[in-house]
This record gives sequence, structure tokens and C-alpha cells, in this order.
Amino acid sequence: MAETKAAKVFVTRELPSAALDPLAEAAAVRVWPGELPPPPDVLLAEAADADALLTLLTDRIDAAIIAAAPRLRVISNMAVGYDNVDVQEASRRAILVTNTPGILTETTADFAFALLLAAARRVVEADRYTRQGRWKTWGPQILLGQDVHDATLGLVGLGRVGLEVAKRARGFGMCVLYHDAVRRLKEERRYGLAYVELEQLLAESDFVSLHVPLTAETHHLIGERELSLMKPTAVLVNTARGAAVDQRALWRFLKERRIAAAAIDVSEQEPIAPDDPLLTLDNIIITPHIASASVATRLGMAKMAVDNLLAALRGEVPTHCVNRQAVRRWRRALPR
Ligand code: DGY
Repeated sequence: MAETKAAKVFVTRELPSAALDPLAEAAAVRVWPGELPPPPDVLLAEAADADALLTLLTDRIDAAIIAAAPRLRVISNMAVGYDNVDVQEASRRAILVTNTPGILTETTADFAFALLLAAARRVVEADRYTRQGRWKTWGPQILLGQDVHDATLGLVGLGRVGLEVAKRARGFGMCVLYHDAVRRLKEERRYGLAYVELEQLLAESDFVSLHVPLTAETHHLIGERELSLMKPTAVLVNTARGAAVDQRALWRFLKERRIAAAAIDVSEQEPIAPDDPLLTLDNIIITPHIASASVATRLGMAKMAVDNLLAALRGEVPTHCVNRQAVRRWRRALPR
């Protein structure tokens, strides 16, 4: 097993020193200083002699990067999602991939609920209205939105975040439906949730909130057909991954008011292009992928990513390894 101090680590963005210092004590660390992600050629060059990479969801770790990194033992992704990493290729090359689950669950659920409330009650539009000097009087018909209390919420995906959103919804007296690949009977009983097929969920929900990872199966999970099943008064919330929704279809449905509103923290292309037609609509709130962005949670994610990385460098299987199927191969490939 190699001494960790000799190990070379490339970190793709500045992180709080409370997370980076322990890493710098144990390994030779290089940190990309830019505000934007390192360009692919820099990533390729840095990966070439790295034992470990600490990456963000904005870094595409594809087969080319992995092939250019013969010493690489671990890719520690500072996110719960890891669709930016070619995990299959990493496994093939005996590289462990880790993520940061759990730590961001409640913060993300808080934000999903904030978006839901803001879209329902047109908070962002109302703020613009005020700033534009359009507030002339209390008007009985001005900026009317949808009630959240007692409404029906449909959760697409009942993983950690979905379940936390369900708990928050109970405080608002909402009826909660969910759809997932697996039923969670204990949670259904404990939190009064109803499992339904996706079509029924879309047809009956006043609010639809997405909580699925991005995979081949969930790519454009919500497209033309699914949107057409939703109520014209419904609100779509997406804090999961942008590509779970067909954004062109969403634009048409919002523009034609075939659904009432949407609030998305994620976009098919990130950042969203400045000329994206969604940005011309009043009935959508778009935030820049900040659902997990609280001071405490982002620090926790950074520390967890460092812990995962250091464990792998010590030759231990990190707690949050997402490709356990590669562990045997990884062990065999460890330097002795
Ligand atoms: C994740 O961790 O995957 C989130 O999208 C970051 O907010």
C-alpha cells in the first residue's frame, strides 16, 4: 500500500480549508483555482499523474480522462449524483467512485419545498412586480396563485430527498402520492403516503416534484406525454437533474399555460443558455443548482468527499463507494 503522503490528488475547485487541510496533511494536493471548472485539457493533464481526483458534478469524468490516468485509484465526487462520472469505465479500470449521500438530504428537501411554495404563490413574479413599480393598490385579482395546504403532492422518486419532502408536505396538510421503482411500505404507513402509477400521479397531483437520479431510464422521464397528463393548474418542481425533463416540451406547456407553473433548480444544460426560451416566461422560476447550498451542508459535503478519498488512499473501501462491484479488482491493483 502506498504512503498517502506520496499520493497526488487533484481537486477541481477551491473548497473550505476545514475540508482541504486534512487532505493536504495526508497527500500532495493541487487545487484548480478557477471559479469555473477546469477545462477538459487541464483535467486530462492533471489526471495523468493523479492517484485521486476530487471532482464536482460540473466535471465530466469520461472514458478519455480515465484512460489518461494510469495511477488513478479513486474519483471522489462531491455530490450525491454521479452521472458526470463514467462509473462503468472506472470500474473496468479498477478505480473506485464515491459520492456524498445523506448529508444534503434535508437541505435539498427544504429547497424543493421553497421552490414549490414560491411557484405556487408566485413569489418571484410578485417581487418583480413590486420592483417594477406596478404595485398601485391591493387588488382582489392581483397575482393569484395556488393553495399549497390541503393540495395533492406527487413525488416522482421516494429516495432520501423525496421522503424528506413528503415529511414537510405533511405539515401543510397535503395528500402525498409517490411513484418509484420500489414500494416503501413502511414509509407509506408511517407517513400516510399512497403509491400510485406515474400516470395517476401526474393526473391527480397539484404539485409534482422530481427526486430521481439521472439514468438512461429517467432521461426525459417527464416529456410531452407526461406533461399532457398533468392538470392545467399543476406546478412542476425539479431539484433532481435537468435532463429528467424534456425542456423543450416544458417550455411549450408553460407558454401555452397547459400547466400553471414550474420551478427548476436544474437544467438540461448547465448553466442554462442565456437565450433559452424558458427564460422568457413568467411562470417559471429557475435557480442555479443551489438546492444543497447551505453553509453547513456544502462544508459537510466537502468533508465527506475528502473522507471518502482519504479512505481509498489508505487502502480502505470508502463508506460511500458507488461501485462496490469494482472493489476486488481495485484491491488487486493497489500498489504493494
Ligand atoms: C447532488 O449532490 O447531486 C446535488 O445535485 C448537488 O446539489
